[in-house]
Amino acid sequence: MRLAFATTPLEKISFPSFIAFHPAAFRIHCSSIFIRLRFSLPCPPPFMQVSARPATLSAPYSPHLVEIPASHRIQTHMNVVAIANQKGGVGKTTTAISLSAALAELGQRVLLLDLDPQANATSGLGVEPDSEGSMYYPLIGEAKIQEKVIPTRIENLSLVPSGMDLAGVEIELARSDDHLTRLRKLLTNLKRGKKYDYCILDTPPSLGVLMTTSLAAADEVIIPLQCEWFGLEGLAKIVHVIEQIRESGAAPKLKLEGILMTMFDGRTNLSRQVVEEVSNYFPDQLYQSVIPRTIRIGEAPSHGKTIFEHDSSGIGAQAYRSAAQEFLIRHSNVGGPIA
Ligand SMILES: Nc1ncnc2c1ncn2[C@@H]1O[C@H](COP(=O)(O)OP(=O)(O)OP(=O)(O)O)[C@@H](O)[C@H]1O
Ligand SMILES: [Mg+2]
Repeated sequence: MRLAFATTPLEKISFPSFIAFHPAAFRIHCSSIFIRLRFSLPCPPPFMQVSARPATLSAPYSPHLVEIPASHRIQTHMNVVAIANQKGGVGKTTTAISLSAALAELGQRVLLLDLDPQANATSGLGVEPDSEGSMYYPLIGEAKIQEKVIPTRIENLSLVPSGMDLAGVEIELARSDDHLTRLRKLLTNLKRGKKYDYCILDTPPSLGVLMTTSLAAADEVIIPLQCEWFGLEGLAKIVHVIEQIRESGAAPKLKLEGILMTMFDGRTNLSRQVVEEVSNYFPDQLYQSVIPRTIRIGEAPSHGKTIFEHDSSGIGAQAYRSAAQEFLIRHSNVGGPIA
């Protein structure tokens, strides 16, 4: 059997399926993806020019908790962080909810915007999806975001829920000239209010208008990446899209803040190999905290609870707490991500 996939819009690569099971072939093939990606871009972005490999990502990839001094928890302006990957089911929503809740637990004032018509971040927090209360009206210019913000039962965490109507925005916005910058303008008003330290955007699994307007509205992007072979393919694509958004001028400073490995399965070599490949090419972006695949994380949304409410001391909760602490440390020096 031969599989075919595209790493960039321009090219297709074929590879035999045994590659996924043969470590040497796997490494060579992963490298070829990134080499092709590097040369397919007009100018390799700075994060691809780093060749050093981090000493920190060695086995086992168990979560470790980092103590952060209280002085590091100061945020001077609202940072907009898109949790994005056009690939479906990679842990975007789980990361958006868990990172938001963990940051709120650490005393940050967080606003979570559910920009996915599937409304998983909304229901995952135990809130009823609500088309009237969603970003639909703000995005079409008929309401302010502030009118749609609701509190959650988690202290410091507010939400703008999603609902099915949000799907209609794709069509309506696509017709307008400023669709790429619509959300950015709305969030600029919110930034002036200084009510939140972080605004986390949960984005849909597509390259449609909701996704691109989210990226263009963001200061930075975190890519949740499933520890599987096809995750690498998705990574090449989203990196390319981020570059395109920057070049469009809509968000010239958009930063790939981090790559968070999700659904890590310590029993498989493949999980480990995927993490190592990512660490080779994105040493500065890769989070040291790795999110394991756990039954508890998978269960939590069915109870409408965060992982911290569902299994506060479990390894899933620990891993997301660790990721949130790492996130804060990365943002500690200048009120923005470390360059
Ligand atoms: N670390 C994990 N361990 C176990 N299950 C997980 C983990 N992370 C996510 N899941 C489960 O995997 C599924 C997909 O996760 P999630 O909804 O977060 O992905 P997504 O990228 O937001 O998906 P979509 O692209 O559809 O929006 C969900 O059922 C979720 O509960
Ligand atoms: Mg989702």
